[in-house]
Amino acid sequence: MSYRNELKNEKLIKWVEEVARLTKPDNIYWCDGSEEENERMIQTLLDGGTFKKLDQEKHPGSYACFSDPSDVARVEDKTFICSRRKEDAGPTNNWMDPTEMKGILNGLYDGCMKGRTLYVIPFSMGPIGSDIAEIGVELTDSAYVVVNMRIMTRMGKDVIDVLGEDGDFVKCLHSIGSPLEPGQKDVPWPCNPTTKYISHFPEENSIMSYGSGYGGNALLGKKCFALRIASTMARDNGWLAEHMLILGVESPEGEKTYVAAAFPSACGKTNFAMLIPPKEMEGWKVTTIGDDIAWIKPGEDGRLYAINPEAGFFGVAPGTNYDTNPNAMESIKSNTIYTNCGITDDGDVWWEGKTDEAPENMTSWTGERYDPASGKPAAHPNARFTAPAAQCPSIDPAWEDPAGVPISAFIFGGRRATAVPLVYQAFNWNFGVYLAATMGSEMTAAAFGKMGQVRRDPFAQLPFAGYHMGDYINHWLQLGREIQNAPRIFGVNWFRKDENGKFAWPGFGENMRVLRWVVERVKGETSAVESPLGWMPRYEDIDWRGLDFTEEEFNKVMDIDTEVWKQELLGHEELFSKLYNKLPKEIFFMRELLVSGLWRSPEHWSLAPERPPVNPNID
Ligand code: OXD
Ligand code: MN
Repeated sequence: MSYRNELKNEKLIKWVEEVARLTKPDNIYWCDGSEEENERMIQTLLDGGTFKKLDQEKHPGSYACFSDPSDVARVEDKTFICSRRKEDAGPTNNWMDPTEMKGILNGLYDGCMKGRTLYVIPFSMGPIGSDIAEIGVELTDSAYVVVNMRIMTRMGKDVIDVLGEDGDFVKCLHSIGSPLEPGQKDVPWPCNPTTKYISHFPEENSIMSYGSGYGGNALLGKKCFALRIASTMARDNGWLAEHMLILGVESPEGEKTYVAAAFPSACGKTNFAMLIPPKEMEGWKVTTIGDDIAWIKPGEDGRLYAINPEAGFFGVAPGTNYDTNPNAMESIKSNTIYTNCGITDDGDVWWEGKTDEAPENMTSWTGERYDPASGKPAAHPNARFTAPAAQCPSIDPAWEDPAGVPISAFIFGGRRATAVPLVYQAFNWNFGVYLAATMGSEMTAAAFGKMGQVRRDPFAQLPFAGYHMGDYINHWLQLGREIQNAPRIFGVNWFRKDENGKFAWPGFGENMRVLRWVVERVKGETSAVESPLGWMPRYEDIDWRGLDFTEEEFNKVMDIDTEVWKQELLGHEELFSKLYNKLPKEIFFMRELLVSGLWRSPEHWSLAPERPPVNPNID
């Protein structure tokens, strides 16, 4: 029985009616989030050929599906921030006047759901009823979106109860842009192959997405709401919506320290969030709160508290295996949706890197027979799994705590073959903001620009900040002025390469060694030396049990080449000139201080053993 007739929230009722008048669906269905409803939705997807059932012994409750080849990833060039004033979106976002964008979209939405059902999905980002959580309602014509949203958010009737008569919500309108004429047969992955718009209206907390059924374009709770719209809500209300994982580090004494970390897309956030420490580091444990997004608010005690607004993982499958991320592999055994992976004749899924050898008798994500000789991959490089976070073996007992967890450290890391050391601690909050604002990654795909060039990705939020990046940096500085007990800020680089072009740091579980130093710095339990960039561990400050990594190798990944850094700081200038009119003045002064630090350094600043340890009074 639908709860529609009991519904009292006029704003919601009116909006659904308005959208239905415009998009003209055959039916309207109000999702209640029940198990029974989910089974019906899955059956619809199986009947329509969108889902294929996997071997239910190996993967209970799990399904594979395959997108249209034109609809495989977020479409950054079709993503718009439609603030009233262009300068509020800033130079790093696409902008269109909201009235103009709505004109275009209303034209496209007119009749776009003909022959389809309009699903109403009430959802909560964050534990239902938490002070940090926010409510959204997604209207969509995609059953695939409904079943994914059920995993990725808390969805259904309970949310309607919290919304009450006059509760507010973020309006998330989505259409695949593929109406059906009477009698027209549907395809397994309907979408609009030519026209896509992912539009955000920050002044009215609404999102309008058209044409794509894939991931962040369609599951509007994720990047659109929890990052782009939420970042503007956070700016206005003194909190943070960040592209960050959250993890807990438990020491052998049982002391827990929570850390939030930002890395650009596809830099291993899920792996880091679920890290398993080397067994020789006995007693150390990592627990997972979230792998992609953190909402962070100041608590009454002056500390920052974070929640994971999501309820599931929408992770990149290729490269995930029992060596790189056993916890992810366990999380995705059951109740998982696999999109764009290869599928074997006996109902298993496979992707590049899952095992050393590809299985025989497999169909690739494009529906062709997989042939290793063809050079074409079985899985699309952006193939994904959608899995409930509760299934993760390392999930933290407090992951649904409505109060959030106290954050003691922020870690920022790009993908840099050179320049950036393995780890360093910013001198203070402001230098930490500078470090985060200037982080970047070398480009790996020619499509983004010149290979090897550094793409600055401030706070790993370049595609996700809902407002001007200069204001964004200022918001961070301002927060630092307001909170007591500010988390310490660290920079890391897991991707440094040696002179032969090989990764110089083993990464994955070994990152625990860096993480241990980070949490011990926070607690004032370990020492560091002062470098031109910040505080650094010496070889003896790191726990090396079980890893053969020499002091020479360590000093190499920590090396600061002063000439390279002078160039690096010039590179920052490029970003600053882009953001100039809104960039806080502190940023320019900090750059000058860094330059002057480099000028008094030797050509190569390295961790000489005779350097005395310093343990500054960090309070
Ligand atoms: C993601 C992304 O899907 O950052 O998480 O692109
Ligand atoms: Mn992400």
